[in-house]
Amino acid sequence: MRFTVLTLFPELVETGFHTSITGRAAEKGLLSLRCINFRQYSDGGNGYVDDYPYGGGAGMVLQAPPIYRAYREAVGEGPRPRLVYMTPQGRVLDQALAKELAREEELYILCGHYEGVDERVLEEIATDRVSIGDYVLTGGELPALVLMDAVSRMVPGVLSNHESAGDESFMNGLLEYPQYTRPEVFLGRPVPEILKSGHHANIARWRRNESLRRTKEVRPDLLEAAELDRNDREFLADLEAEQETARK
Ligand code: ADE
Repeated sequence: MRFTVLTLFPELVETGFHTSITGRAAEKGLLSLRCINFRQYSDGGNGYVDDYPYGGGAGMVLQAPPIYRAYREAVGEGPRPRLVYMTPQGRVLDQALAKELAREEELYILCGHYEGVDERVLEEIATDRVSIGDYVLTGGELPALVLMDAVSRMVPGVLSNHESAGDESFMNGLLEYPQYTRPEVFLGRPVPEILKSGHHANIARWRRNESLRRTKEVRPDLLEAAELDRNDREFLADLEAEQETARK
């Protein structure tokens, strides 16, 4: 996967990306990152890339021409790439979107700042608008890093076996079960006995139930879409009954 990020803060994006798993995958050649600072494409090289909004109002707006020039030069003679504009006004990122974007060979990301970006350049170059959640950040750089991280770990070879992207939150539409490692007792809390039993089927059932318990507690909305079998429904019904009794 080749990422190209249009940003006023390339150091922030590069530092984040070249750390830990994505950094290691870049060294292996599985991922690459090219950051382009569109300040270098300012009108007449004056370094200014923002201006007052037409119609008035607070804040500044990033101008279309510098972003467009940076984009044109980066794309060159190549085909029109998929370009994600990071914005709280976009579709909220989830695992399904990360998976879909991971199928691209190349992904462009535009990071905005200040009050926003001139709509006309977005109409021209953005194929997607993506938010990382219902809160407003000062810029699109951290969202771009979040998006690249979520996408990268779906790229084959980026995760090693023990980091595998299989058995975890959202893959099966549920939150992940709790994990334990040594020591066997921590501050008086023992590891659940069943995890030491060596009985794989029972362990799998216990984990599934704990996933269901967590999801019901924290994200009941996810249960609506999750694929549940008869055992799952029975467990959830028992849980509901237990909670009902506890409330009385
Ligand atoms: N830029 C500022 N806030 C954002 C958010 N929540 N998601 C994506 N881009 C943003």
